[in-house]
Amino acid sequence: MSTRPLFPTTRMRRLRYNSNLRDMIAETTLSTNDLVMPLFVCPGENVTNPISSMPGNAQMSVDVLVEKCKELYFMGVKSVLLFGIPEHKDLDGTCATQDHSIVQRAVRAIKEVLPNIYIIADICNCEYTSHGHCGTIIDGDVDNDLTIETLCKQAVSLAKAGVDMVAPSDMMDGRIGEMRKSLDRNGYYKTPIMSYSAKYASGFYGPFREAAESAPKFGNRATYQMDPRNSDEAVREIEMDIAEGADIVMVKPALSYLDVIYRAKHEFNMPVAAYNVSGEFSMVHAAAEKDWIDGERVMLEILTSIKRAGADIIITYHAPEVAKLLKN
Ligand code: PBG
Repeated sequence: MSTRPLFPTTRMRRLRYNSNLRDMIAETTLSTNDLVMPLFVCPGENVTNPISSMPGNAQMSVDVLVEKCKELYFMGVKSVLLFGIPEHKDLDGTCATQDHSIVQRAVRAIKEVLPNIYIIADICNCEYTSHGHCGTIIDGDVDNDLTIETLCKQAVSLAKAGVDMVAPSDMMDGRIGEMRKSLDRNGYYKTPIMSYSAKYASGFYGPFREAAESAPKFGNRATYQMDPRNSDEAVREIEMDIAEGADIVMVKPALSYLDVIYRAKHEFNMPVAAYNVSGEFSMVHAAAEKDWIDGERVMLEILTSIKRAGADIIITYHAPEVAKLLKN
């Protein structure tokens, strides 16, 4: 042994030399139990429309979607989040509230063959309005209270179709309380609400708007989604949603908002979901395609960081890729 001028007693590296030991003391573990896969359902039969900006993802007709759900379920992804591309759009998105609407049909079809897969329905009008905003427009802006009426009807209709949980993503004030009352009054008191509580007006939704055909035709969503500069505001949003009866609170997007996820987890004793959104997913794929990064490694690093920040549930388009990796 060489004599050295300095001998640190505490050597952090001691615990890093052996990979078994590294695994033993790892503080964060990703599991397929954490994952929710978002899926897009469209009209027709035997339809698979690949979404060019989201490699591996597609709009699927109900029959194809059912097969996709089987595949996911048997690879360990036990929960899906559904978005609908309806045959017709209207000014106030009421087509989202009909019992024969696209997501309602999809839910019934999936449950028929896979009763144990956990189905979450996104509750929002933006895929159903002709203008692409998340609700009814009055004087050029989304009207809060009128929109809540449509959202509540949409939630009840989806609960009736057999959905396991509803996830309102519209960001209207007071929608959680009204939705809870509507569900309860209609007998769906067992249906949890996962609220998109802190949803930011984000550039990371770009690919999704192609996928869901929901880009606003005028203006933007800044009057209802949150300003990326704020996190105290997120805490207030979360607090209000909990008071109104939210069962799970969500932060969205995830990667640029890890501090918000952290606050959500540590300031409230609530299950926290994080939405690893379309732009975050597509960036990884685009850079990996150019060989600028190791896509799998970066994907795992990102998802682990979301978990480490405090998320219990991760909604991610990477779900099937991760499930495959975790299996091996
Ligand atoms: C609907 C909704 C959006 C996303 C989920 N629900 C789009 C938006 O608010 O414009 C985005 C998801 C993603 O980018 O993956 N309001």
